[in-house]
Amino acid sequence: MTKITYIDHQENSKTIEVENGLSVMEGAIQNNITGIDADCGGSMACATCHVYVEDEWLSKLPQAEDAEQDMIDMAFEPKKNSRLSCQIIISEELNGLVVKTPTKQS
Ligand code: FES
Repeated sequence: MTKITYIDHQENSKTIEVENGLSVMEGAIQNNITGIDADCGGSMACATCHVYVEDEWLSKLPQAEDAEQDMIDMAFEPKKNSRLSCQIIISEELNGLVVKTPTKQS
């Protein structure tokens, strides 16, 4: 289990323990985190799982593949630290990961 902190656009924070091997999106869905809808179920076709990854964690993630980056480009207010949470697979190394959800996803 790995601790992940989800922060919404109003700075409400929720830290939960998520099973390793799941995605950050799946952890959110299983724990009723608002702001991550995941309409496509994780197939990189919706961007409703868009999150901003805190800078200190960004370098610990594998780089986004082209398909993920293309979808991020179509997301609401993409930033340099934007990722699709369905593509971030949880492991021990990500213990303490902090992600924020954009304003539009609430
Ligand atoms: S859940 Fe649809 S792109 Fe991540």
